[in-house]
Amino acid sequence: MKILVTGGAGFIGSNFVHYTLRTRPECRITVLDALTYAGSRASLAAADQTRLELIEGRIEDATLVDRLVADCDLVVHFAAESHNDNSIANPAPFVTTNVVGTFTLLEAVRRHDRRFHHVSTDEVFGDLELDDPERFRETTPYNPSSPYSATKASSDLLVKAWIRTFGVKATISNCSNNYGPYQHIEKFIPRQITNVLSGIKPKLYGAGLNVRDWIHVDDHNAAVWAIIDRAKPGSYYMIGADGEENNKTVVALVLELLGKPADWFDHVNDRPGHDLRYAIDATKLRTELGWEPRYTTFRDGLDATIAWYRDNEAWWQPLKAEVEARYARQGQ
Ligand code: NAD
Ligand code: DAU
Repeated sequence: MKILVTGGAGFIGSNFVHYTLRTRPECRITVLDALTYAGSRASLAAADQTRLELIEGRIEDATLVDRLVADCDLVVHFAAESHNDNSIANPAPFVTTNVVGTFTLLEAVRRHDRRFHHVSTDEVFGDLELDDPERFRETTPYNPSSPYSATKASSDLLVKAWIRTFGVKATISNCSNNYGPYQHIEKFIPRQITNVLSGIKPKLYGAGLNVRDWIHVDDHNAAVWAIIDRAKPGSYYMIGADGEENNKTVVALVLELLGKPADWFDHVNDRPGHDLRYAIDATKLRTELGWEPRYTTFRDGLDATIAWYRDNEAWWQPLKAEVEARYARQGQ
């Protein structure tokens, strides 16, 4: 099977490539990635290069996309501008990549009648109160808050329209917050781990009471494969592993696992429009497709992630000063 993986040099996409080449000997992968600040050849260096090709290019490039889609059996679409804080500072690239890029891919899969899996986020549903007994489900109405989540919501709606109107064989998954190896250090967990490893105090936005529903990236990718293998084209799934934690608790755990005092962190400026809580009800995925997460203890998954950042300083160290300088300008 020939798979086109967009955004395969980013965090979740590169883990998908490693996971797939490790577990599926029949698969060959072409990665299409623009190698923006968030993508890196180094994230794919450890993969079996005989079954992998990396094409540097953009998903809005209709000619390139048409050729690559024609030449594959399946497209798994991870490419995106993915960071909320960046979307607040400069929304334009989010519209280009997330909306126009997804549109370009949809037109190509429509022309060539290819199977398409669209990787999306729980943020399209907005946020929940801390005490809300409801969690996000496949039927929850869209209500995005940030420029990032609004462009991801737009891309989901394009996919839904192409399914209904043109009969495109697509599926969509909306996953909660991922953690694991190869995550860019602008994101919460790797930022705090690499802060501590660099002698910098962790930075908590606002009071730190916002809740995210953490899932290990390999569990996310196993769920993506369950959908590709067993879901009906045209169907949607929530992906989450019952991993709700507030940000303060996550920082406390990072500090404990790295042997620092519990109060060794700073409160910094909050994110404008900061979503309060995300929580996923993955009953449909579990019951229909039989998926179960393998990383059920957040502490163990976090400990393994800390070990990865400790062992792979060469991967993140060159980025650290610039990322922290950018945050410092925002008082974060
Ligand atoms: P990331 O920012 O780490 O990686 C994105 C990749 O896309 C990078 O390699 C980048 O170079 C590439 N890219 C960006 N613009 C491109 C373009 N125009 N053309 C081609 N390539 C381009 O993101 P991530 O965290 O790995 O997220 C991957 C996908 O999963 C995104 O669609 C995101 O919305 C979704 N998602 C992420 C999470 C999470 O917690 N990180 C959770 C749910 C869903
Ligand atoms: O829910 C899925 C989404 O999770 C994905 O769609 C996004 O691509 C991904 O970036 C992530 O979005 P968040 O905004 O939730 O992730 P982030 O890592 O930026 O922040 C997680 C929480 O931590 C959030 O409440 C903000 C807070 N935070 C973040 C940073 C970078 C801090 O308190 N301090 C920080 O330094």
